[in-house]
Amino acid sequence: MSFPDIRPRRLRRTPAIRRLVEENRLAPSELVLPLFLKEGLAEPKPIKSMPGVLQHTRDSLRKAAAEAVAAGVGGLMLFGVPEDANKDATGSAGLDPDGILNVGLRDLRAEVGDNTVIMSDLCLDEFTSHGHCGVLAADGSVDNDATLVIYADMAIAQVEAGAHMVGPSGMMDGQIGVVRKALDGAGHQDISILAYSAKYASAFFGPFRDAVESSLDGDRRQYQQDPANAREALREVELDVAEGADIVMVKPGLPYLDIISAIRDRVNVPVAAYQVSGEYAMVEAAAANGWIDRERAILESLTALKRAGSQITLTYWATEVAVLLRDRY
Ligand code: PBG
Repeated sequence: MSFPDIRPRRLRRTPAIRRLVEENRLAPSELVLPLFLKEGLAEPKPIKSMPGVLQHTRDSLRKAAAEAVAAGVGGLMLFGVPEDANKDATGSAGLDPDGILNVGLRDLRAEVGDNTVIMSDLCLDEFTSHGHCGVLAADGSVDNDATLVIYADMAIAQVEAGAHMVGPSGMMDGQIGVVRKALDGAGHQDISILAYSAKYASAFFGPFRDAVESSLDGDRRQYQQDPANAREALREVELDVAEGADIVMVKPGLPYLDIISAIRDRVNVPVAAYQVSGEYAMVEAAAANGWIDRERAILESLTALKRAGSQITLTYWATEVAVLLRDRY
């Protein structure tokens, strides 16, 4: 019988030793909380497929933001949900300074100032009557370049409403370059761009579509990426960095750890990941059934994203986890 000379278990023996050798430790400042603001709502409204997440009123949005900032979260990503009557073919409510997303950005900025990073979803899908991320051509396809013209104005409107950072999420070719030029042209050279660079046509966005009351009938496979492809994500990221992306993001998170890791190895801008609605819903549903330890599953999933290379993670658990971490270390 030969016994081992080298024993990795020595470093797992006590909580103190494990803490000493821990390679990745989450911090509140790297977590970003996505928030939904619904137009014309009298009371905050629970989202069925995302237990614990709300469609906010203007009032409850401000409270949720203040709470997140007090917990130390790194940023807030705002989504606006207009009333159906305010959706149209070109998503014009997204550009309107009085459209629900821009109203919310002004409220957030008034509430939290520069104490966190206010980010805006720069996409038309919540505002179009057909639910696509861009405007449609005569043949019904999404018209890339006509959409870019709108994104340019939408970016300026969001920054003028109070966003510190814009998050183009529509997967149109050239969107980062166009938004950069538009912001620069309007004197907003200092506003940064969080590019949803590698965004996949994913079933894990399902609950989000409830959250924003999406009007989409069909799918987004003509612009979001095929889940089968990895190299294509690197190409998207290289283009976005060349066009001026300040941060690049992968979305969803957990099913795409290989993509996060490959991107981390190739670029020198911060890499972010979006732990999406379906990832959230799976853990919440299993926990509600007593099938999984909720808190451990949440922390493990976020740690896995970080280990893969996500330096910034968007998660619906951001405030809760920030509080947990504060109490833990
Ligand atoms: C598009 C957008 C989507 C999500 C964030 N931004 C949905 C989509 O592309 O269909 C999904 C986020 C989530 O599932 O949590 N504006």
